[in-house]
Amino acid sequence: MEYRYLGKTGLKVSALCLGSMQFGWTADEAASLHILDVAWQNGVNFIDTADIYSRWAEGNPGGISEEIIGKWIKRSATPRHQLILATKVRGRMGEAPNDEGLSRLHIMHSVEASLKRLQTDVIDLYQVHWFDAQTPIEETLRVLDDLIHQGKVRYIGCSNYPAWRLMQALWASDRLNLHTFVSVQPHYNLVHRAEFENELAEVCAWYGLGVIPYSPLAGGFLSGKYQPGKMDINSARARSISQKYDNPKSWAILNTLKEIADEKQCSLSQIALAWLLHTPVVTSPIIGPRSVEQLIDNLSALEVHLDAEEVQRLNAISDWKS
Ligand SMILES: NC(=O)c1ccc[n+]([C@@H]2O[C@H](COP(=O)([O-])OP(=O)(O)OC[C@H]3O[C@@H](n4cnc5c(N)ncnc54)[C@H](OP(=O)(O)O)[C@@H]3O)[C@@H](O)[C@H]2O)c1
Repeated sequence: MEYRYLGKTGLKVSALCLGSMQFGWTADEAASLHILDVAWQNGVNFIDTADIYSRWAEGNPGGISEEIIGKWIKRSATPRHQLILATKVRGRMGEAPNDEGLSRLHIMHSVEASLKRLQTDVIDLYQVHWFDAQTPIEETLRVLDDLIHQGKVRYIGCSNYPAWRLMQALWASDRLNLHTFVSVQPHYNLVHRAEFENELAEVCAWYGLGVIPYSPLAGGFLSGKYQPGKMDINSARARSISQKYDNPKSWAILNTLKEIADEKQCSLSQIALAWLLHTPVVTSPIIGPRSVEQLIDNLSALEVHLDAEEVQRLNAISDWKS
């Protein structure tokens, strides 16, 4: 396993982070625990979750993914300090007015609930899931700083932040002498480049923030199992994927991915992940396998080398400015 520094911190994280949105949703508890075991055995030391996973699924109250990870931490012999545990706060976790957002009240309450579910006394990377326009950024940053001083959180990061809000946050932490975001978790892959590349990537590079992109396979689309006219894949995600990616540009990207995968005799998923791993601003893409087979396939992307011409072909076909 390759380990990379998370932005400007001294923290070394595996070059692939294990996402867990599928735990208790498209992967049951037994499958999730197996995925965690195999990921750890293969050197993955970085796990991403969120308090809300997966409240959108029927019968799921949220918090299930954190609970499964907590069970795994307890039952496995994993030394806790060797594991980098990342979770998130922001989404709605109940029906009361303060059961969501980035207020002092909601964050203070949520961190305790996450620590309990994760069966740990510290979160290594606590991330704000998306921004809260109703709460002043200073309030959010001050409470996150307090949590670091209390020893409940080690580093803080953000997700789904537009560049302007990230700049506000960086300036506010600097002005108020507070701990600052060390990482950004953007939606970023070969069929979804503009959101990150248009301004945010430059802020991350300039300020030395770690970048941990989510949905690196566009929810499974970039695995190549979806084809024009054949979108009825056996996946809870098939409907949203067909709505987003059933268009000529996405199919053209998939074709180029297939050409390069055939030339290198590896899977399309591995090429899509390798493209992210070859992007200098990226630290550690967050994979979301729902089986050990998918996990092994995803991890093999670390062995795929793309030369400059291959990167250029992928960049050209997926260019969002043209
Ligand atoms: N911050 C945020 O707002 C946010 C949002 C989304 C995700 N995330 C994080 O990012 C992680 C990854 O996101 P994601 O699940 O969207 O990642 P992804 O890699 O784009 O999609 C993962 C899905 O692709 C399919 N897949 C993966 N490998 C495959 C293979 N080899 N062959 C065929 N299908 C394969 C599986 O779905 P099927 O088998 O069901 O097709 C799998 O669950 C999440 O677990 C979560 O931790 C964060």
